[in-house]
Amino acid sequence: EKDGYEYFMLKEIEEQPRAVADTLRGRFTVGGEITLDEVRMSDQDFRDVDKVFIVACGTSYHAGMVAKYAIEHWVRLPCEVELASEFRYRDPVLDRSTLVIVISQSGETMDTLMALRHAKNQKARILAITNTVGSTIPRESDAVLYTRAGIEVAVASTKAFLTQLVACYLVGLHLASVRGIKYADEVAAVLTELATVPDMIQKVLGEMEPVRLLARHMENADRALFIGRHVGFPIALEGALKLKELAYMHAEGFAAGELKHGPISLIDDGTPVVVVVPSPRGRSLLHDKVVSNIQEVKARGATVIAIAEEGDVVVPPHVDHTVFLPRVSTLLAPLLTAVPMQVFACELAAAKGHDIDQPRNLAKSVTVE
Ligand code: F6R
Repeated sequence: EKDGYEYFMLKEIEEQPRAVADTLRGRFTVGGEITLDEVRMSDQDFRDVDKVFIVACGTSYHAGMVAKYAIEHWVRLPCEVELASEFRYRDPVLDRSTLVIVISQSGETMDTLMALRHAKNQKARILAITNTVGSTIPRESDAVLYTRAGIEVAVASTKAFLTQLVACYLVGLHLASVRGIKYADEVAAVLTELATVPDMIQKVLGEMEPVRLLARHMENADRALFIGRHVGFPIALEGALKLKELAYMHAEGFAAGELKHGPISLIDDGTPVVVVVPSPRGRSLLHDKVVSNIQEVKARGATVIAIAEEGDVVVPPHVDHTVFLPRVSTLLAPLLTAVPMQVFACELAAAKGHDIDQPRNLAKSVTVE
């Protein structure tokens, strides 16, 4: 039931602090050993992994893109991410020491299931991250970690996405600790920070009115661009996907560094550009690069909306609007930066009078090719 919300999507956006907390609850020891729900793999199997592949579709694929940054940083294993619909029709190089992580909210997406079988035929180990207990994908996998988002009714994925991110982080930390790559105290520090994220998401949700206002002002825009670097890049893609599916608006996400290789031609007077700005602390090089990208698009007339960390004093003078989010470490930032993207798309679609929960031409579970 909608519990008084006008759309399921709004309700599901608001449920995210709870969904993230549930997905974390009781799942790990201080040492970073995570408790998988179904494991037909030993610790030794996890130690033998020499390569990780992540396959998924749509929003779940964006979660996989974020996971690549975390896994390569924490685990120091090569990690590739691929769309299931591409992976299943080519000859990826896999063997029994490859871990294939399959991400699917429904657990029934046809392309993802076929990618799983394709990997299994080559003896790869399969770990599923899914929201649906008893669905086909976890049944056919060697290990399963369930997201605990609860049933997601709206076609556009929101709370499932954030819980997929959490599950990916847990898998990354687990691999790092089982393989002895990270020290227990480093893993514990990330887990401690993760535990504070539900409250941060709650805070973000309480400060979304300016984002709704911006969305309503953009009702007549015919397109929007989203840019980001590092883990901000998949969130730019996710922001654009949400706008396409809900607002039926042409929206594109780019790696900010690619602008000058083509997309910058799209910018003229008033083109809306949403920028995911990395933290100015720590990786300041990344922050500097994004600020130069902002200046590049601004010089060509773009209207820039920045999603930045509170306390960032460099960005606001260069942009038209800044949405501030709480401080969190770089790899975990997508758990916060995704939220204004969801609210923005939902509000813009509502302003246009679209069916929020059932966008045209889309189905919740894509069981055909
Ligand atoms: C976008 C969306 C879709 C799904 C995709 C994969 O909001 O919901 O892009 O993410 O169809 O679905 P699952 O995760 O069920 O395999």
